[in-house]
Amino acid sequence: MKYYLVRAMFFLLVVTAVSGADDTGYLVGPTKPVLIAEGDDVILPCTLKNPNGNNNAFDKTVEWSRLDLNPKEVHFYRNIRDENADQNTNYKERTSLFRDDLENGNVSLKLTRVKLADTGNYTCSVLSLETVIQLIVGK
Ligand SMILES: *[C@@H]1O[C@H](CO)[C@@H](O)[C@H](O)[C@H]1NC(C)=O
Ligand SMILES: *[C@@H]1O[C@H](CO)[C@@H](O)[C@H](O)[C@H]1NC(C)=O
Repeated sequence: MKYYLVRAMFFLLVVTAVSGADDTGYLVGPTKPVLIAEGDDVILPCTLKNPNGNNNAFDKTVEWSRLDLNPKEVHFYRNIRDENADQNTNYKERTSLFRDDLENGNVSLKLTRVKLADTGNYTCSVLSLETVIQLIVGK
């Protein structure tokens, strides 16, 4: 009885340590604004880096948002699929993630047929991590 209790507690400790470790990573985005011409497609780069080597974002929640918009949602991925019910209509049918590269920490956003109104600051979030990528659309 006692043995199992100790086992259970140990298991709990390990699980806590492992899930906690996910939060010790960081997100890498470009250091300069991304410049693009109106009408083109663009990639907003964002990469998950975990010091423990687990960069896999395939089963993580990935959120792209613009805090100056309402609704702020640009793209939402959870439970291994896109869940864009709350997406800002400006971005409808224009956003995607690189599904095959999520496991390598590539959580970059592809945005097609960019508009001048897409100019803004995009927050890339995974777990409790976030970084902001500035997009500037020119004529
Ligand atoms: C993410 O994957 C796409 C498609 O392979 C690639 O074009 C892009 O450069 C990658 N971005 C990063 C930051 O690795
Ligand atoms: C985006 O962020 C940059 C850097 O913080 C800031 O200079 C710029 O005004 C912001 N742009 C918008 C559209 O909020």
